[in-house]
Amino acid sequence: MKFKDQVAIITGASAGIGKATAEEFAVHGAIVILADRNEAAGQALAEKLVAQGVTATFHATDVSNLASFEALFEFCMNTYQRLDHLINNAGIANDFSFFESISDDDWHKIIAVNQTGVFYGMRAALKIMRGQGFGSIINTASAAGIGAAPRMGAYAASKHAVVGMTKTAAHEYGKFNVRINAVCPSIIETDMGMSGIEDDPKVYKMMEMAVPMKRFGKASEVAKTICWLSSEEASYLNGVALSVDGGLKA
Ligand SMILES: NC(=O)c1ccc[n+]([C@@H]2O[C@H](COP(=O)([O-])OP(=O)(O)OC[C@H]3O[C@@H](n4cnc5c(N)ncnc54)[C@H](O)[C@@H]3O)[C@@H](O)[C@H]2O)c1
Repeated sequence: MKFKDQVAIITGASAGIGKATAEEFAVHGAIVILADRNEAAGQALAEKLVAQGVTATFHATDVSNLASFEALFEFCMNTYQRLDHLINNAGIANDFSFFESISDDDWHKIIAVNQTGVFYGMRAALKIMRGQGFGSIINTASAAGIGAAPRMGAYAASKHAVVGMTKTAAHEYGKFNVRINAVCPSIIETDMGMSGIEDDPKVYKMMEMAVPMKRFGKASEVAKTICWLSSEEASYLNGVALSVDGGLKA
């Protein structure tokens, strides 16, 4: 069990990639702290994991709200006195619109969750991890964080920022035995990934066929990559923005 007695905070843990990641960490022995703004689904997952013998708690958290996010770290340190892993995964997508039509509201909403939320999480975790002398952070960026994402300008901006923060922190904190990496999924079969395309068979097929592996990814495939990247098996990876995309960005 590669994460035995290690403490992992996973944001966006109520659904999709975050949920699969929480389950994967739990399988490998971690103590998991689930954070999400969707209370019902997060609580249900925590209860399921506890019934399986996992030490798991759910915390209603809005990552774009500093006080709410910091309360989560306070709980973690008061309860376990350590934080081994932060998975900064919570995110939202924007309405599909051309750049000139991105509304102020949409822009600020996306940046608040996808960029500022990741910043809040990194800042709090890095302070703890530098002090304890170990730790790993994985940020869920996107293929939209390393290349163009037509009609997703705000989203692409936020995800490029995530990659920038990841690389910068890796340079600053490597000497403290803290690794900071990102994963960059392409389209993954989650509520977010399927929204806007699943109702249009033509667009769905076209996007699927654009992937060299001719299929979309599964949440579990991203989760396993996140867990591997967090583990000792990836002990010399730092500052990486790892594509999990079936070869799309190759
Ligand atoms: N699915 C994809 O195709 C895809 C591709 C690339 C990157 N990503 C990224 O992966 C991450 C997870 O996406 P997903 O596909 O699992 O999405 P999802 O919509 O299935 O799940 C996202 C979870 O994040 C939570 N969340 C949203 N805003 C929050 C906030 N402010 N505070 C706390 N929790 C919040 C939601 O309640 C939900 O449980 C996101 O950062 C997303 O941008 C997804």
